[in-house]
Amino acid sequence: MADGAVSLAILGANGDLTRRRLIPALFSLYCKGGLPDNLKVVGVSRTAYSDDEFRRLMWESAVEFGGASGHRGEFDRFAKLLHYMPGDVGNPEDATRLKRRLEELEGGAGPEGRLFYLSIAPQLYGPAIEVLGGSGLATDVPGWQRVVIEKPFGFDLASATDLNKVVHARFDESQIYRIDHYLGKETVQNLMVLRFANSIFEPIWNRNYVKCVQITVAEEVDVAGRGSYYDRSGVIRDMVQNHLLQLLTIVAMEPPVTADAESLRDRKVDVLHSIRPWARADVAANTVAGQYGGYRDEEGVPADSKTATYAAMRLFVDNWRWNGVPFYLRTGKTLRQKLTEIIIEFQVPPHLVFSGDASQPESPPNILAICIQPNEGARLRFQVKVPGRGMEMRPVDMEFDYASAFSEQGIPEAYERLLQDAFDGDASLFIRSDQIEEAWRVVDPIIEAWESPDASQPLTYERGSDGPAAADALLAEAGDTWLEGGCGGHTG
Ligand code: BG6
Repeated sequence: MADGAVSLAILGANGDLTRRRLIPALFSLYCKGGLPDNLKVVGVSRTAYSDDEFRRLMWESAVEFGGASGHRGEFDRFAKLLHYMPGDVGNPEDATRLKRRLEELEGGAGPEGRLFYLSIAPQLYGPAIEVLGGSGLATDVPGWQRVVIEKPFGFDLASATDLNKVVHARFDESQIYRIDHYLGKETVQNLMVLRFANSIFEPIWNRNYVKCVQITVAEEVDVAGRGSYYDRSGVIRDMVQNHLLQLLTIVAMEPPVTADAESLRDRKVDVLHSIRPWARADVAANTVAGQYGGYRDEEGVPADSKTATYAAMRLFVDNWRWNGVPFYLRTGKTLRQKLTEIIIEFQVPPHLVFSGDASQPESPPNILAICIQPNEGARLRFQVKVPGRGMEMRPVDMEFDYASAFSEQGIPEAYERLLQDAFDGDASLFIRSDQIEEAWRVVDPIIEAWESPDASQPLTYERGSDGPAAADALLAEAGDTWLEGGCGGHTG
């Protein structure tokens, strides 16, 4: 390791993301010895705080969002790494001041590297990149320079392409780390291990054996005080374009040649590229938009808002492996339970030897459920014989739970892993520019159809429900039903 310091400049240090995710993740890494040696963190935002005031606020955040209350002593040691500079990220003079501040903190040896974290409003990404690239802050310095950019990257395909142009005018793609925090989740990475480090799944992971794939990301929370952001965004931009499509790509991708960032991301782009494009006219037949009851009373939401807080859809991946297999995606706010799971539903046996018994219900399908959260693990469901006379069968689950298999380890937060990877220069869990654009290409027609002036109002669904009933009808058309893999604690 070089002698110089590693600097992390968090632009937007007074924001929600810094308080809820970044500081708790950095503190947790500090406690585990997972931060670079000689790290300096400088928070930048417009509010005028001293270093000490900033440290006190970050302590409060670590207590509220990172369970740090019993660790005051350790936090005080960690807090010595934290510094603050009031400034405006789009202002070149402030960039010059930040440059001096970083040089001061880095000392004579110069930096080993600098990481700039854009935790700011998305409309400021472009101006901030211009300033970072133009001020010499992130160029003309020894060591490496990287920029982490939060979601949403763009608002649609056209704006994402424009933003990529702004980024590429100042930085090389290898310096850019576009975040989708779902990729930092341990269970999402496990999905790749499950697929590519075992030989038993791959032979059946295709259209010959898989009937459909279901991806559910259900949330119990509402828009939680973010009404004005959410109303401009809606569920497609907030969840589908990024988190759900990323999950889909990992389920559907071909095995990469190696696990390096480019091989992995090449295979993921292939999947996005293969998703059948819906014309505007196909959208109604393949999607369901919902809005929870009471959404329009939320602060910051117009009384006549047509923004969807729930989406269900059917997509097809047009390639040799998946041709004809529906991928059903659904996600929404204020649903019955917080649950992220992926279900691979296999075909029923071609001939049911035991189905002659009239008392025997139709054989339920074999499923593999990958439990992303909250009960991290995986379950394989198959039929067994109920003891006794006759051939009564019942589905049972073979379960793997992270909590019991790795009880001593605990599951790190997604941001811990992503921050570490950004420090280490490993971009495999970050989104490349072409991936972002392909994902927008997939959802753009849905956004256009749902936001057109003649679009109908999304279907209202009750808080605490499973979303609009029309989502069931979407699957029923092909004889499918939404399944529960048991990841939320209930088996359906
Ligand atoms: C964010 C969305 O990206 O992901 C939020 O903006 C959503 O609306 C959140 O609540 C869900 O993340 P997680 O990790 O709680 O599933």
